[in-house]
Amino acid sequence: MNILVTGGAGFIGSQLLRSLNENKKLHIISIDSFHGYYSRQRKMDQLKMAGDGFEFIELDLLEEKRVIQLFEQKQFHTVIHLAAIPGVPKSIENPHEYIDLDIKATVNILKASGLTKVEHVIFASSSSVYGNQGYHPVKESDARGFVASPYAASKWSAESFCHAYRHLYGYHLSILRFFTVYGPWGRPDMAIPLFVKKLLNDEPLTIFSKKTARDYTYVDDIIRGIQSVIQHPNGHQVYNLGSGNPVTIEELVETFRLFFPQFETIHFPHRLGDVQTTWADIKKANEELDYQPSISFAEGIGRTIEWAKRYERF
Ligand SMILES: NC(=O)c1ccc[n+]([C@@H]2O[C@H](COP(=O)([O-])OP(=O)(O)OC[C@H]3O[C@@H](n4cnc5c(N)ncnc54)[C@H](O)[C@@H]3O)[C@@H](O)[C@H]2O)c1
Repeated sequence: MNILVTGGAGFIGSQLLRSLNENKKLHIISIDSFHGYYSRQRKMDQLKMAGDGFEFIELDLLEEKRVIQLFEQKQFHTVIHLAAIPGVPKSIENPHEYIDLDIKATVNILKASGLTKVEHVIFASSSSVYGNQGYHPVKESDARGFVASPYAASKWSAESFCHAYRHLYGYHLSILRFFTVYGPWGRPDMAIPLFVKKLLNDEPLTIFSKKTARDYTYVDDIIRGIQSVIQHPNGHQVYNLGSGNPVTIEELVETFRLFFPQFETIHFPHRLGDVQTTWADIKKANEELDYQPSISFAEGIGRTIEWAKRYERF
């Protein structure tokens, strides 16, 4: 059975490839364009970490003809579409690139999937589609498009195209809303990898706004969630994949103090486009996918620090 993973050189993609390698019945193909959002070298390292049990193709998903040719040639059963450019601040600087890479590239995947009779399309969306909802758990039906950044608008729009193409072609569609994913190989622009890097270099932590909280989710839990979704195509579904346990900025600082007792914090005002809090209601994923996050925040941070000491290129 042929399975496609787009964005396979990325943080989540490479860890998914590594876990899919263990299933010898699957023929896995991965695409990535090595977008310059962060370094090509880091993405090459991630691919190396993922092992050699898959076929890799360097391709930009905006090249529609090549995408369709590849789909015709490989006749994929399942497509896991992770490729995108992430991040709120860059989306404010350059919104048009997000329209291209997060919306148009997704449309190419959705159309190619329909034309070649893919059975199941899985789309990586984001907690950002909920916008600012206050400090309470959000369930899948709480998203209404009132988003707070161009990145979130591009994910919300891409979700809408997913619904349209599922209607046109009838494949199984699973939209997964990931909540702030962290862990070894964490994306280098995100808060936790940046904090770990600063702490290992004896630098103070830069904190934007004291009143934030994030539903940090350990990457292995996300990978187990995606694995479960691959095995449960079920019509037309949206799932939150989070930890269900938001961590306030004070709790985050306290957790880091378990590992680095002495460090300073520097505070800045709220950053444009950031939502104040995220908190996943994971009841649906728990009931339908048996999704159960199992790594506590302190344990996940410990594992991330150990990894950074060994592998991170500073
Ligand atoms: N990391 C998180 O906390 C998080 C949270 C919510 C949603 N997501 C979503 O999960 C997915 C994976 O995120 P990540 O953190 O692994 O990001 P990442 O940047 O590490 O990985 C994305 C990969 O997609 C590739 N890519 C981008 N545009 C492409 C194109 N046109 N053609 C081919 N490849 C292309 C990039 O080169 C990169 O390797 C993204 O869709 C992201 O929006 C991530």
